[in-house]
Amino acid sequence: EKGTYPHYMLKEIDEQPLVLRKITQRYQNEANELHIDDHILAAMNEADRIYIVACGTSYHAGLVGKQFIEKWAKIPVEVHVASEFSYNMPILSEKPLFIFISQSGETADSRAVLVQVKELGYKALTITNVPGSTLSREADYTLLLHAGPEIAVASTKAYTAQLAVLSILAAVTATSKGINLEFDLVQELAIVANAMEVLCDDKETMEDIAREYLATTRNCFFIGRSVDFYVGLEGALKLKEISYIQAEGFAGGELKHGTIALIENNTPVIALATQEHVNLSIRGNVKEVAARGANPCIISMKGLETEEDRYVLPEVNEALAPLVAVIPLQLISYYAALHRDCDVDKPRNLAKSVTVE
Ligand code: F6R
Repeated sequence: EKGTYPHYMLKEIDEQPLVLRKITQRYQNEANELHIDDHILAAMNEADRIYIVACGTSYHAGLVGKQFIEKWAKIPVEVHVASEFSYNMPILSEKPLFIFISQSGETADSRAVLVQVKELGYKALTITNVPGSTLSREADYTLLLHAGPEIAVASTKAYTAQLAVLSILAAVTATSKGINLEFDLVQELAIVANAMEVLCDDKETMEDIAREYLATTRNCFFIGRSVDFYVGLEGALKLKEISYIQAEGFAGGELKHGTIALIENNTPVIALATQEHVNLSIRGNVKEVAARGANPCIISMKGLETEEDRYVLPEVNEALAPLVAVIPLQLISYYAALHRDCDVDKPRNLAKSVTVE
């Protein structure tokens, strides 16, 4: 099934442009407008606050999704790690809507929260890749990712599919409220799909970066500000789970509050710079770590680049940059794992769907 690919992970990384195009199609009506089921739209419009609940990579997608929903649809959103939710239950708003994000639709930690939420009588929407999965059946509504089966333990195409579906949900909700977004999401997602293709065709550079920065290191930091921070969290998770390199993602501004103590000569620091309003400040953070010996690898977006950058991503709508910026991080993790002879598709100690709490 993986055809000529050596690993499912690489195949699934490569599928991302296609999956994105498919999602855009699946969520269009006959008039080619983005469309979401009326019941789901009504639930979005009734909610005074949205609670996103998820684990791992899906939680990272939720962090980005919060930005889409708040900025475009103007509904406040909280994002929670499922395993912490029940004992750290926030004071809920009057009309909450719960959104569960789960590739497998079987994650026990998320399901435990869903059961609790249904007992309290609240509405829940599940965003999942698996039709008929437990979280889909037990929620009131489902939005499918249409990413096709994801076999590799490390989630790749499901993450970008989650971001795409969340962006569509946010944009359609905004439009239904009469909010004018000043861009056409269908068009913007098409540009993203093309950018993803460019990145997937540039594997040699990603392999070079993995070799240059990660060949012998014990650890690696990812920094970013605003949504780049969330993509950094996902990059760190990818790297540690498949290459066993200790990796952490930080908000650029947080490093100096403690973690900078860990920077040694040649510590790799992968810095993302895709957001104009924080471009100068993230570059300031890069200087701070470089002054302490770090080996910075700046990945920026076209239009924001400087000469010191190691890689420049094709330009896309800034809000959608996470869909593009994550791809080099996935590929760098893949090659780092490969260079270290790790079992890329089945990393030690991990299972594809985590059905115990
Ligand atoms: C990381 C990864 C996990 C899952 C998490 C949630 O690559 O795959 O962190 O994202 O176990 O799984 P789902 O989305 O199936 O609920």
